Amino acid sequence: MRIYLPILLLISGFLAISSANRNPTALLPSEPQLTNCPAPDGDLNYRPVIGIVSHPGDGAKSRFSNASDVSYIAASYVKFVESAGARVIPLIYNEPPEILIQKLNLVNGVLFTGGSSKKGLYFEVVKGIFQKVLEKNDAGDHFPLLAICLGFELLTMIITKDNNILEGFNAANQASKLQFVEGANFEGTLFQRFPSELLKKMSKDCLVMQNHHYGISPEKFRANADLCNFFKILTTSADQDNKIYVSTVQAEHYPVTAVQWHPEKNAFEWGLSEIPHTEDAILVTQNVANYFISEARKSLNRPDAQEVLNNLIYNYSPSYSGKSGSGFDEVYIFTQNSGLSSL
Ligand SMILES: *[C@@H]1O[C@H](CO)[C@@H](O)[C@H](O)[C@H]1NC(C)=O
Repeated sequence: MRIYLPILLLISGFLAISSANRNPTALLPSEPQLTNCPAPDGDLNYRPVIGIVSHPGDGAKSRFSNASDVSYIAASYVKFVESAGARVIPLIYNEPPEILIQKLNLVNGVLFTGGSSKKGLYFEVVKGIFQKVLEKNDAGDHFPLLAICLGFELLTMIITKDNNILEGFNAANQASKLQFVEGANFEGTLFQRFPSELLKKMSKDCLVMQNHHYGISPEKFRANADLCNFFKILTTSADQDNKIYVSTVQAEHYPVTAVQWHPEKNAFEWGLSEIPHTEDAILVTQNVANYFISEARKSLNRPDAQEVLNNLIYNYSPSYSGKSGSGFDEVYIFTQNSGLSSL
């Protein structure tokens, strides 16, 4: 072998010289277009920011704080958003409304998390932010909302103006399938760019995590004009008693998606025994995150960069809450006056 090495070097040297001669401009550093890679689509926002609304409590069964003004965001939602190429600004629900409005003007979409609180200030704030999401879209922006679990339930209550619309379901700590509604058009929905293999698996295998006691049956949903005018049903699921509930909906005229299941848990939570962690389950997390953030990239909102930095979740540190072996693995905890009101 050794005797061939000089020959190889010779040949490769000759090739380098001859290709440089054939294409003499290729190596000139003065050609700026050679290193300039323009954004593939100048209309898209490649620095999207998502607002996540905090939920009352410390998210760790009072192990971190009993303060009445404490609220939290499970870090899994933050990682979910970050994994698809966006950053997060926490929308601390009990901050003064004018601060919340200012923060809403710094983001390109909103996420409503899971949780349990369905009344009081939290309910009113979620309702107010939902109205703002609709207003921003009506005013011409493309401003997506992803509502997960409790978020799904709150939207159902808000849209119907009926706080008793939800029914009881037995779907706590349950991995489940998605039954895709026959003839449903997936264009423009979160499922549009899912690999078709994965969609098939989601209807056969238990690839999504459910963790809720409430929901709405397809019958009750379809009998409600407000819900039907706003949303179309994409999937249903069966609870542990085989009772069917609506599990994924997409707004007809807004970039608003609501899921009873938890796309963020598959990749980022370990405290519940039934969370699916297979490669397919992780693909579900990634595809939902990619869909949501691809919607946020369409937002026209270009906030002041420094204001964004001043309010990003990187100004806070998460606490490790997963050692108890249940609940969330990491939580961001906020007290009402931990808001960085440098606006
Ligand atoms: C909150 O209150 C409970 C019940 O009194 C107590 O067990 C817990 O240690 C408290 N948590 C903190 C962080 O003080």
